[in-house]
Amino acid sequence: MTEEARLKVAMAEIVGSVESTLKGLLPIGEGPEARLCEAMAYSTLDGGKRLRPFLAVQTARLFDVPDPQSLRAGAAIELMHCYSLVHDDLPTMDNDDLRRGKPTNHIKFDEATAILTGDALQALAFEVLADPATHPDGTVRATLVAALASAAGARGMVGGQMYDLAAEAATEPFDLEQITQLQRMKTGRLFDISCQAGAILGQASPAERQVLADYTKALGLAFQIADDILDEIGDAKQTGKPVGKDAAAGKATFISHLGLETARERAKILSLQASEALECFGIRAEFLKAAAQFIVNRRS
Ligand code: IPE
Ligand code: IPE
Ligand code: MG
Ligand code: MG
Ligand code: MG
Repeated sequence: MTEEARLKVAMAEIVGSVESTLKGLLPIGEGPEARLCEAMAYSTLDGGKRLRPFLAVQTARLFDVPDPQSLRAGAAIELMHCYSLVHDDLPTMDNDDLRRGKPTNHIKFDEATAILTGDALQALAFEVLADPATHPDGTVRATLVAALASAAGARGMVGGQMYDLAAEAATEPFDLEQITQLQRMKTGRLFDISCQAGAILGQASPAERQVLADYTKALGLAFQIADDILDEIGDAKQTGKPVGKDAAAGKATFISHLGLETARERAKILSLQASEALECFGIRAEFLKAAAQFIVNRRS
């Protein structure tokens, strides 16, 4: 089997186990809140590449963490990610009607339900991490909770979303340094917590955690450049979300600054840097290294 084919099998395995983990974690509501529970399941199950849980599980395996623990941590990060997508698609944000090949949450349900869906998914993410089933040691659980809060909050994903709105509103287009900072917060921090969660569960050393931070720093940027490239030249049938939105909004992206070809080159270099950062883990990190390549070559 080629490396690419082996990665595909490994990713498909995680997609399956994340799906069943999420099914076990999502609430089943009765009465008036049933609609909220239905909307949470709608935007969480049956879709997405599940890259963040993949990174969490693969990193955890480097430290011999049992899969059921890392799958719970990965599922918690996926819940946070799904919440960010539901809110990102709202009319007041990107105003998109397609996500993961289906109508967005506010189209399928309504705006108020979509806001509540995001809120409830975020709360559930923390509930999952704080549960002793995620790790028997309370200090490890508290470290996971604090790390996800930091990655998702004002200095992380949500701050990045604010930065993104500021970029759209700015009269002077943002420069490359500002765009890099924006992407690090908006996208990079959730990728980082994905690997760090595996390392926290495995009680990895500070040096090992730094290596993983170097990997995700390059990986997150490569990922977002690929996302911007797909927005520019992707096919909505494959991406499952609308394309051409960034250019239409006049958004400063890596592509608007560098052009398509240089942006592609930049993504490839970052993907190589990501793989190289993991050299010390040798063959044990083969899927994490392969994921860095997948991220820049993907069509969806
Ligand atoms: C899309 O993330 C949102 C960004 C951070 C750009 P993904 O491309 O990982 O989305 P799914 O989870 O596979 O749908
Ligand atoms: C949003 O970035 C990333 C999030 C924090 C949700 P985008 O707006 O580029 O994500 P897509 O392209 O809609 O998935
Ligand atoms: Mg957006
Ligand atoms: Mg968007
Ligand atoms: Mg995008």
